[in-house]
Amino acid sequence: MNLWRTQIIWPVLAVAGTFLAGITGCNKPSGGETAASDVIKVGEFASLTGSEATFGQSSHQGTQMAVDDLNAAGGLLGKKIQLLTEDDQSQAGQPATVARKLISRDGVVAILGEVASSRSLEAAPICQQNKIPMISPSSTNPKVTETGDYIFRVCFIDPFQGTVMANFARKTLKLNTAAVLTDVKSDYSLGLAKFFKAGFTADGGKILVEQNYSAGDKDFNAQLTAIKAQNPDGIFVPGYYTEVGLIALQARQLGFTGPIFGGDGWESSSLVPIGGKALEGCYFSTHYSPEDTSPAVQDFVKRFRAQHQETPDAMAALGYDSAMILADAVKRAGSTGGAKVAAALAATKDFAGITGKITIDANRNASKPAVILTIKDGQFKYVETIAP
Ligand code: PHE
Repeated sequence: MNLWRTQIIWPVLAVAGTFLAGITGCNKPSGGETAASDVIKVGEFASLTGSEATFGQSSHQGTQMAVDDLNAAGGLLGKKIQLLTEDDQSQAGQPATVARKLISRDGVVAILGEVASSRSLEAAPICQQNKIPMISPSSTNPKVTETGDYIFRVCFIDPFQGTVMANFARKTLKLNTAAVLTDVKSDYSLGLAKFFKAGFTADGGKILVEQNYSAGDKDFNAQLTAIKAQNPDGIFVPGYYTEVGLIALQARQLGFTGPIFGGDGWESSSLVPIGGKALEGCYFSTHYSPEDTSPAVQDFVKRFRAQHQETPDAMAALGYDSAMILADAVKRAGSTGGAKVAAALAATKDFAGITGKITIDANRNASKPAVILTIKDGQFKYVETIAP
């Protein structure tokens, strides 16, 4: 099925695409050669719709803002940057399709994306095979960059994030026991659950009960009843906001009053609208806080608010940083050639990003502090920053 699509349908679509672009007038001039010399095409894939729509929308807004800033400052290597954004609809199967399209039809020089680790993992082998550098703004599962030497990220990884939340649970929340509720459909959730459990038990805590769910589930009563029966001090939920909001709601309805906490997947403007009061006093780790008083963050927050009438979240800030890191590498490489850009990306050192100083390590990850936020009066509030 996959083979069939790749080998037969794809070339047909590519030809049809070029043809259609010719008639409709988009993507001009057709054929790609003249276009290639006018602009630098950068691809982006994001969940602009579907169950994690706020992830893709935020990330895209940040990425677009960086591209606009770069173009306003003269572009790259004397050319304007053209950002080509594809919506993967938060759906498995789409990231591979859109990554192929960006590479073969559009001829992008690099790809920015995704937020969710499972979707980055789907596109990464395609970028690697085609020697097109890919930068994930915010996928934290270690496997993403293990795909190969063309795959980078500008955020920390989950062995760190899991340890941060384990230490926070033990030392600040003073939990002796915990339950873990994992989304088995998500590489992110599986990884973060594993690293949290390792950190929590290494620190003398005890995991009393583990339960699973699948992305898209709406009823968590069976799992939460099993959890409540063991009476844990807290529940760790390494999931995405749609399910997290429902889990918090249903846990409170069942009478669980202890802390519920998780990772960056909680961060969404839709979390509180879903979970409401059930989330008060809960905690999650993420990559940045708009309350950070540094001039770079405050300038970013101010300009983003003026454009979008909302406060930029971590995905917006990381999206911005991903495009800026790419631009910095292209400048240092003096070229858009995949191998040269990948080598320059690998050499990134102390780049001043919105989300902190970014140095790409030997495994193509960024080692950066994590931020812990709490939910108070329906708002995300800064608690503390934890250095690696
Ligand atoms: N880290 C999450 C993942 O790997 C995605 C995410 C990043 C979600 C930042 C929210 C904020 O799947």
